[in-house]
Amino acid sequence: MRFGHFDDEAREYVITTPHTPYPWINYLGSQEFFSLISHQAGGYSFYRDARMRRLTRYRYNNVPTDTGGRYLYVNDGGDVWTPSYLPVKAELDHFETRHGLGYTRITGERRGVRVETLYFVPNGENAEIQRITVTNTSDAAKTLTLFTFVEFALWNALDDQTNYQRNLSVGEVEVEMDSPYGSAIYHKTEYRERRNHYAVHAVNVRAAGYDTDREAFTGEFNGLYDPQVPLSGVSGNSIAYGWYPMGSLSVPVELAPGESRVITVVLGYLENPDEEKWADDAHQIINKEPAHELLGKFATTEQVDAAFADLGASWTELLSRYTVTSTDPKLDRMVNIWNQYQCMVTFNMSRSASYFETGIGRGMGFRDSTQDVLGFVHLVPERARERILDIAATQFPDGSAYHQYQPLTKRGNLEVGSGFNDDPLWLIAAVAAYLKETGDYSILDEQVAFDNDDALADTLFEHLTRSFQHTVTHKGPHGLPLIGRADWNDCLNLNCFSTTPGESFQTTENQGGGVAESVFIGTQFVLYGADYAAIAERHGLPDVAAAARTEIAAMKATVEDSGWDGKWFRRAYDFYGTPIGTDEDTEGKIFIEPQGVAVMAGIGVQSTDPTAPEFAASKAALALDSVGEMLGCEHGLVLVYPGYTTYRLNMGEITTYPPGYKENGGIFCHNNPWVIIGETVLGRGDRAFDYYKRITPAYREDISEVHKLEPYVYAQMIAGKQAARMGEAKNSFLTGTAAWTFVAASQYLLGVRPDYDGLVVDPQIGPEVPEFIVTRVVRGATYEITVHNSGTPGTRARLTVDGNSIEGRLVPYAAPGTTVRVDCTV
Ligand code: GLC
Ligand code: GLC
Repeated sequence: MRFGHFDDEAREYVITTPHTPYPWINYLGSQEFFSLISHQAGGYSFYRDARMRRLTRYRYNNVPTDTGGRYLYVNDGGDVWTPSYLPVKAELDHFETRHGLGYTRITGERRGVRVETLYFVPNGENAEIQRITVTNTSDAAKTLTLFTFVEFALWNALDDQTNYQRNLSVGEVEVEMDSPYGSAIYHKTEYRERRNHYAVHAVNVRAAGYDTDREAFTGEFNGLYDPQVPLSGVSGNSIAYGWYPMGSLSVPVELAPGESRVITVVLGYLENPDEEKWADDAHQIINKEPAHELLGKFATTEQVDAAFADLGASWTELLSRYTVTSTDPKLDRMVNIWNQYQCMVTFNMSRSASYFETGIGRGMGFRDSTQDVLGFVHLVPERARERILDIAATQFPDGSAYHQYQPLTKRGNLEVGSGFNDDPLWLIAAVAAYLKETGDYSILDEQVAFDNDDALADTLFEHLTRSFQHTVTHKGPHGLPLIGRADWNDCLNLNCFSTTPGESFQTTENQGGGVAESVFIGTQFVLYGADYAAIAERHGLPDVAAAARTEIAAMKATVEDSGWDGKWFRRAYDFYGTPIGTDEDTEGKIFIEPQGVAVMAGIGVQSTDPTAPEFAASKAALALDSVGEMLGCEHGLVLVYPGYTTYRLNMGEITTYPPGYKENGGIFCHNNPWVIIGETVLGRGDRAFDYYKRITPAYREDISEVHKLEPYVYAQMIAGKQAARMGEAKNSFLTGTAAWTFVAASQYLLGVRPDYDGLVVDPQIGPEVPEFIVTRVVRGATYEITVHNSGTPGTRARLTVDGNSIEGRLVPYAAPGTTVRVDCTV
């Protein structure tokens, strides 16, 4: 069942009913000011840091879920309703929400009044704009009153939810009914002391009245669904003194039949220099100059429309670097629009603010952010460079890493500790992706601090060396890498042994033994070690490259030997040296993580031609066959099978989840692409594409009532085959799945990937997509690649470049400004 449809031309998802199975959200903003907005106008806004500079309030765990947002109440001769359906829930004659790239447009119509609101954050501005178009669709004159609504948060979102003894006394506002461009409400809590920032909520017309005290607006016993002021039709002109400051402005609107009127609402964030904080110091009247300047930029509809056009143009430019035109519209819309869009959202948000992440919990993850780079490096290479250097500067001198860092300060924090032994290797992955995309080797010579201490700075290349060496010097009894606190799987905590409720599985090591090993890190080391060696070579260090390759060969042999279980790769060895992820166990027999990455790294690969006799017996093919058989279900590949039914002290958090959920046998979408890529390595594009379709939202749109979350973005997890509600997704938007599925689809299924010395063209997508054209802009040149695809397993691409056939599948990089035509037959 669907709740809307894609509009590919407009690059929108169109939701046609308010009754989706969960709030379906979008993000506004891509620089410093951000908003979350659901299809019912729920959500909130913040400046740079969702925890420290929260502008508006949102209550997680609310009933119903999505209560709180920026709302517009319409009083039409006593009939009060909200065009976003929530919060009033009056039935609408027409409802539609269009989520687009950095904007959302919500339309509601009732009893001859249509209200369409376009929400967006203009490029370069710290403001959310609402362009509201009210139309009288009836044949009688209408006299309406509109009431805007926004509830302010007292800046620090954590404190805002916890410290009521103080906060209910500090709220302060100012009202400016005759502002130069209409009427405005200023939220200035704590501005009197150490803050130099405030928020403004304004309309571009002279309002009839205002409210700034939430209780006066709703009435003592009413809620947002039946607030007294809109019901009465007249603003209370209330001033907040503490309690709950909010902003509402009322605007009377008279409309002849067929007539429309456009009104603009602005929510802005402003700062003043310390010496210019006040317009009137004695009366503590704030300096509103920067707010007036902002409001002056959006005073007319023409100004608003120009800013909106500019936003669209910047997205068109961004998304032009990788496009595909194929016979499969679902594939095209994911690759061209939504998957890349989601990659940008992960770049902006990391894992901070979504409808599943509160914006107060996590800093940026070392491993998460480095992997995110893989998905956006082609979109914003300069910003990827900066991100890489910021992350590298939090690395410890011994190569290990803080697991998280704070985006505002760019410093590592120990909230989730350190000692996750996969972390260092992801830095190599990010730098390799950056070098392949840009060819900018100067990044390797950048001086980068260790532990944010400039006195310890060394080159970025030295950082990579310490990442590589960290694995070399931290091996266990089998010669496999020590796992430390955990590896990619945060919940595989082999040294924790926790019996205390609430104790952190990730930061507690109750039995430090230094023996628990990770096969996964072994595979990761072989994969990214090869990049380290390639980079060392290009950095003029052939001896370093050769020594690295010796280490890699040794690890490869170890994984094939101690890491092999008979039909798949094992997952780990625990504190006692007992294997995890083995057929000998009753549960947790096979894990997904090492299988895909091993094959990506070439471990156990004897042939890439499935018809060759040695193929079938290869460890790679056996492992991926086992994945398909044991981990596969219609909704994707589960992480582990069978999931654990009891708590295992020696394994930690993974066994705390009910079987079928999260790391304990959920479909953790992040690592499905590793198997997808592995299948393309083995020349089995048909299987790869099949797995891709199982988790990719556009292909799941028809089962939205099961999937529950947005059909345009990936979720972190889909409940697995042991779950009671198999197929139900959770944690949409902020997940490494975005980057990895984009890599899998663009670089391996469609097969166009930048390498160090040229663009590889090597599609493996099976027979369902017989013809397609990829346009790829890289290093300033444009490659137009036309693919004729038989989809026969094991067939590899043959290429002609500008009419000449070439050996192999590497198209050398062309001069910037040129267009290269590649013809590819598979
Ligand atoms: C979450 C974390 C990520 C981790 C994964 C598996 O997605 O953000 O760092 O790798 O869970 O535990
Ligand atoms: C990751 C996992 C989650 C776990 C958390 C611990 O986000 O997905 O299951 O609770 O890490 O930090």
